[in-house]
This record gives sequence, structure tokens and C-alpha cells, in this order.
Amino acid sequence: MTQDKAEHHVIFASTILLLLFVGLALFVASTARANPAPDGAASSATFRTKCAVCHGPDGGGSATGKSMNVPDLRSEAVQKRPDAELTQIISDGKGGMPPFKSSLSEAQIHDLVNYVRSLRLKK
Ligand code: HEC
Repeated sequence: MTQDKAEHHVIFASTILLLLFVGLALFVASTARANPAPDGAASSATFRTKCAVCHGPDGGGSATGKSMNVPDLRSEAVQKRPDAELTQIISDGKGGMPPFKSSLSEAQIHDLVNYVRSLRLKK
């Protein structure tokens, strides 16, 4: 009888431990997904896949971009534009630049504006 009880305790305790462990793992996984490194990682990945073809990884302009006369995104001429204008250019396109409003969400475009701002600081 007592033997039986002890076994129940062991099973009970290990079940609790297992649940705690699973809970912790899920918690870690969900926070990792909810906060992909404030600002940084996600938008720089978007920039590299969508924008660097023309603007270069640092915003200075790739060879393709230079042949299209892309402005240096780090320059004063670009940085002095208000956020609303940068948002609008990225959404609707400008000259040789394609519009991105159908392939990027508003939040992604907003993050890209912040990303473009961060390029200036790296200069
Ligand atoms: C196909 C090449 C190309 C791609 C891809 C591209 N751009 Fe551009 N971008 C241009 C060109 C060309 C201009 C200059 C347009 C003009 O002034 O006529 C420009 C201009 C800009 C400007 C405005 C600069 C200014 O002050 O006039 C910003 C900001 C910008 N691009 C951001 C981005 C971002 C962010 C992405 C990615 C979502 C991106 N671009 C993708 C070619 C591109």
C-alpha cells in the first residue's frame, strides 16, 4: 500500500515537472516570436531582401542602383525628409523605384523608415 502511494507521488511530481518544462518552453518560444529584437533584425532583413538590390546593404547604393541614380539613403538630402514622405515614397514608389504597399505591410514600411533613419547614425 505505502509502496503504491510513493509511486503515485513520483508520477505526480514528474507530471508537474513535465508540465512546467513544457510551459516554460512554450513561453520562451512565444516571447522569442513576439519580440524579434526591437526594431533591428526584422527590418534589416526586409531591407536586405527588398531594398539592397538597388540601395546596397548599407543604403549607399548598389551597382544596379547607381546606374539608376539612387540617392544615398544615408545622405542629408534623404534624411531631412519627414517620416511621412519616406513612408509615402516606400509605399507608392518614385521614379525608378517600385511601390511596396502591396508587398509590405504598413508596419513593415514603418519599420523600414526607422531603418533608413538608423543608416544615418552608422555613418
Ligand atoms: C529597383 C530598384 C529599387 C528598389 C528595389 C528600391 N528602391 Fe528606393 N529608390 C530607387 C530609385 C531609383 C530611387 C530614386 C527615385 C527618384 O528620386 O526618382 C529611390 C528612392 C528611394 C527613397 C527616397 C530618397 C529620396 O530622398 O528621394 C527612399 C527612402 C527609398 N528609395 C527607400 C527604399 C526602400 C526602403 C526600399 C525597399 C523596400 C527601396 N527603396 C527599394 C530604386 C529602388
